[in-house]
Amino acid sequence: MTRINVNGEAHELVDVADTTPLLWILRDHLGLTGTKYGCGVSECGACTVHIDGAARQSCVTTLSEVGDAQVVTIEGLSADGSHPVQKAWKQHSVPQCGYCQVGQMMAAAAMLRDNTSPSDADIDESMWNICRCGTYPRIRAAVKTAAQELRK
Ligand code: FES
Ligand code: FES
Repeated sequence: MTRINVNGEAHELVDVADTTPLLWILRDHLGLTGTKYGCGVSECGACTVHIDGAARQSCVTTLSEVGDAQVVTIEGLSADGSHPVQKAWKQHSVPQCGYCQVGQMMAAAAMLRDNTSPSDADIDESMWNICRCGTYPRIRAAVKTAAQELRK
């Protein structure tokens, strides 16, 4: 049996190999399907979650690599969609198809934890997540709105 801490709760996993990617633990074992599978090789960012507060790609992070760390998914970012990033995404109607957006929001929230006044260059450097719908201008605007709220 293995324990994993997700969204403030400890979960026990039975008969799960240590090499299982975190993404499949979240989706298949814990039913947290907000985190998405895109490329599976750390190239798109769709599977981004927080591990001890940092943005990490859950498709290439194994259960053993998570260890005792605290994992946060979009379901745990806020209980009611009230995180400044979630509110800003709604305000700017950022998603188009929506597939990449959970990863985008998790990347944004992690960046804003360290930098509440990100420049365009900071956003481009921290948020390399791919959006095939090309919502980048709205993402950037939403990040700046969320940053403004976090600075209050
Ligand atoms: S699915 Fe993990 S980075 Fe693309
Ligand atoms: S909103 Fe469609 S891939 Fe980003």
